[in-house]
Amino acid sequence: MIFDVFTLFPEHFEWFAGQRHVRNAGEHGSELRFFNYRDTTPLGAGQVDDSPYGGGAGMVMRVDVVDASLEAAYGPDRDGVRKLALTPGGRRFDEGLASELARESHLALLCGRYEGFDERIVAHLADDAVSIGPYVLSGGELPAMVVADAVLRKLPGSLGDSESALEESFSEALGGAPEYPHYTRPPTYRGWGVPEILLSGDHAKVREWRLERSRERAART
Ligand code: ADE
Repeated sequence: MIFDVFTLFPEHFEWFAGQRHVRNAGEHGSELRFFNYRDTTPLGAGQVDDSPYGGGAGMVMRVDVVDASLEAAYGPDRDGVRKLALTPGGRRFDEGLASELARESHLALLCGRYEGFDERIVAHLADDAVSIGPYVLSGGELPAMVVADAVLRKLPGSLGDSESALEESFSEALGGAPEYPHYTRPPTYRGWGVPEILLSGDHAKVREWRLERSRERAART
């Protein structure tokens, strides 16, 4: 998969790009690339935003600036790239959307800053608008990392133990339910024990217990 991030702050992703599962995905053929709107803006003095028509506080990312960035990256034919604008008003990001995106061969995440995007970016340049939750962040960089993390860890070779993504929270293996609780050594700590069944060595019973706990958690959320 090619994973492109359009941002004014590519340096914010340095820590993220160095994470093991992201590097693993890179070693298995995925590519994470960054494009700075400021590098290709058609406006003078590196301008990328402007004051909103109709008045109001803050600045708005300009449609011509984002278009120029996409043009420089892809040229006029962008159909093969699934382009997502990150904005609090978009489709709520969840595990299902992460799985859907993991099946794409080329993704582009458009990060906004300031008051957000000129609506024409969302309407005409992006294929979807995506929100990571009902709150407003200062920009799309953290949402882009959230989306990239959830998607990249689904790609083959990203996680060390290929099993660990199969049966985790919200996966198909658990019927979309949250994951069951985990325990490890010591078997008692400050008087806090571990469920006996997990120490029994009875794999069928352990499995049954785990699915039950997972369903219980689903009913509570
Ligand atoms: N940009 C600012 N807040 C956001 C959010 N909650 N989701 C996606 N993009 C955003």
